[in-house]
Parts: sequence; C-alpha cells; structure tokens
Amino acid sequence: TKALPLHGKRVLVTAGGTREMIDPVRYISNRSSGKMGYAVAQAAREMGADVTLISAPTALTKPAGVHYVEINSAEELATTVKAHFDATDLLVMAAAVSDFRPVQAVDQKIKKQPGQNGMTLELAETEDILKTLAPLKQHQFVVGFAAETQNLLANAEKKLAAKKLDMLVANDVSKPGVGFNGDTNQVTLLTPNSTPVTTNLLSKQAIAQTILKAAIERGA
Ligand code: PMT
Repeated sequence: TKALPLHGKRVLVTAGGTREMIDPVRYISNRSSGKMGYAVAQAAREMGADVTLISAPTALTKPAGVHYVEINSAEELATTVKAHFDATDLLVMAAAVSDFRPVQAVDQKIKKQPGQNGMTLELAETEDILKTLAPLKQHQFVVGFAAETQNLLANAEKKLAAKKLDMLVANDVSKPGVGFNGDTNQVTLLTPNSTPVTTNLLSKQAIAQTILKAAIERGA
C-alpha cells in the first residue's frame, strides 16, 4: 500500500562473492555468504519496493517476491547491473566483487605436471562497477559498501568520494560478528556531508532496515 516507505520504488541489490574462473573446476572467490545483500533485498521488499536481487551463487533461499538474477563473475555482475541501472531508483551494492580475475580462464582442467612444485597465476583488474556507474547517475541513489580490516573510517571516506556514492556502508570485517558470513553486522554509515553514524552489533535484518531508512531520509 501507499503507506509503505518504498512503495513505487525500484530497488536493485547485489549480493554474494563473485567467482573468477581459473579453469572449469576452480575459481577465485571470497568469504561472502550473500546474507547481508539478501537481508537488504528482503527488507526493501517488506518496505514496499519492487526489488531485483543480482546474486552470486549462495547457499541461501531466495527471498520471496523479489526478481532474482544469478551471476558468477565480476564481469557478469557488471553487465547485469548496467542493464538494470536505468530502471533503478536505489542501488545497494552489497556484493563482494573480485578486484582481479585470472587473465585467461582455460577451458580444460589444469593438470599438475610431474615434478611441478609451484605455479604462477596471472591476474588482471576487473571493472569497478560503482566507478563506471558514477557518471551515469541521474535519479538513482547509490549505496556502496566497504569491507575493511584496518583504518575503517579513512578508507571508507576515500571510497565514498572515489566512487561518488550517496551513501557508504563500512564494516570492519576484522571484528568478531562483523561482516562476512555470520548473521550479525555492525556498520558505519557515511554520507557526503554529514558525520558518520555507527550502529550497534545487530542482526543483518536490522542492519538492512537501518541502511534503507537512512537512504530514504537522504532522499532515496
Ligand atoms: O555476504 P555476507 O557474508 O553477508 O557478508 C557481507 C559483506 C561483508 C560481503 C558486506 O557487508 C560487504 O562489505 N560487501 C562489500 C564487499 C566489498 O567488495 O567491499 P570493497 O570494499 O572491496 O568494495 C567497495 C564497494 O565497491 C562495494 O560496494 C563493492 O560492491 C563495489 N565494487 C567492488 C569491486 C568492483 N570491481 N566493483 C565494485 O562495484
């Protein structure tokens, strides 16, 4: 109904850790479970939004009532986000996107050679999706995340500016219960012209609601 705060809004959420293939059976990824992004998608749906969730493979149940697109690599994620961006009012990039990918994904399983005692894998930079979107922004309110293990605030301020975000959600993933994989998180919300606000350690559902409420307050 009209009373819901995100009624009529199209919300695009990314979740999970991208997979960068090395060969048909091996990939480079990270510890993202998808839980944070799924919680945002679910909370946005409950607030009345038309939600699209773009997710790397996860062990999670898809949230009900949400459009779902599964991707593997950072490149597929980039293509899919860009295809949806025009028809998005609020983008929340909770996905843990690989910054590098193997230069070549070979099409046969790499064999260990007799006597081989090491190997070098050459990596190339992936596209920074949020940076690509920055100059394409019109009505969209864009929320990025920052996963840090040190200097949380300083690194977060840099990402907020470099990626021209409307809001940045920073989590110190070196702290117990924060960031990857668990059911809880603690975040600092940064916006271009105001003092950062840090939440308590809360369920990812509660963090998701806090992020969306803050985005709405800031004009999303
Ligand atoms: O999935 P969970 O297990 O619940 O864990 C949640 C989480 C820790 C993954 C989540 O809270 C989080 O921090 N997500 C962002 C992780 C990340 O990739 O952070 P980053 O600091 O490397 O990237 C900064 C931002 O740029 C992110 O919004 C990211 O989506 C985006 N990015 C990164 C690389 C890239 N090539 N393109 C991007 O757009």
